Amino acid sequence: MSSEKVLSSASASASAPLASPHAELCRGINGLDKVVLRDPRGSSAEVYLYGAHVTSWKNDHGEELLFVSSKAIFKPPKAIRGGIPICFPQFSNIGSLEQHGFARNRLWTIDADPPPFSTTSSSKTFVDLILKPSEEDMKIWAHSFEFRLRVALGPGGDLLLTSRIRNTSVDGKPFSFTFAYHTYFSVSDISEVRVEGLETLDYLDNLQNRERFTEQGDAITFESEVDKIYLSTPTKIAILDHEKKRTFVLRKDGLPDAVVWNPWDKKAKAMVDFGDEEYKHMLCVEAAAVEKPITLKAGEEWKGRQELSAVPSSYCSGQLDPQKVLHGS
Ligand code: BG6
Repeated sequence: MSSEKVLSSASASASAPLASPHAELCRGINGLDKVVLRDPRGSSAEVYLYGAHVTSWKNDHGEELLFVSSKAIFKPPKAIRGGIPICFPQFSNIGSLEQHGFARNRLWTIDADPPPFSTTSSSKTFVDLILKPSEEDMKIWAHSFEFRLRVALGPGGDLLLTSRIRNTSVDGKPFSFTFAYHTYFSVSDISEVRVEGLETLDYLDNLQNRERFTEQGDAITFESEVDKIYLSTPTKIAILDHEKKRTFVLRKDGLPDAVVWNPWDKKAKAMVDFGDEEYKHMLCVEAAAVEKPITLKAGEEWKGRQELSAVPSSYCSGQLDPQKVLHGS
């Protein structure tokens, strides 16, 4: 427990007590506060208050399922490279706002008393975080909002992220935003990975000025840089890791699009917080709302949910059987 000291009293940034008996506030890398979730059945997750950033998700065998770069910089203002950065109020770098917005490099606080969820979740292992804009934030994005994020571990070790964003404007001003859960999955070898559920869909290619194309052929495989925004995707996407014999299933709600990103070798070398060879061991598949920004009138709330599970890949005469994953229950 060198970098992971349990705090005897809540730190200033965390302030409120944790509601879940399976959540613990600790100090993480560089003394940043993090909340560790430990499900009694063995799975776990870690969430930094800096960015409300999930940096670890482990199954009940203690295997890490998310990729975090060995060169990640756990220091404001740089967002943590890996895990699940939250992109809000914008995905990408359009206009004057910084790339992927500011939620991922702000200090969130523990939400002591979140409004009840409309659907009841059986999970007792969770943390609720909240972000409200500071005066400085209002100068770069002049909108009042409350962003509540619940990170929970489900009974089978699933990782659930639920975002609720409310327009708290008192002068009736609407706002629009784009959004992504920028999930970095840990994979054994990118050349052995296939993504199912996006074939035949339209996408915007970030590597070609966001021009619109239609995906051809079967499952998506990887042999060079990819940076695509798939539009109006199904709610279920599977990421099959042939070598690990593991399939990630991503289910999403309120987030019509899905971004698929791997920087490959040249871009990897250009990033200071990313190892030269690490592109081989990660793949971003991001539940997102990009093409059509979400607009909230004063008083309105939006909800966007992502659920991740990791299951052993089913084999059918030596082949992974994605249909079982995608169309099974
Ligand atoms: C992806 C984008 O979601 O994030 C890419 O599609 C971008 O264009 C990548 O390069 C990483 O962004 P950042 O700001 O975390 O380096």
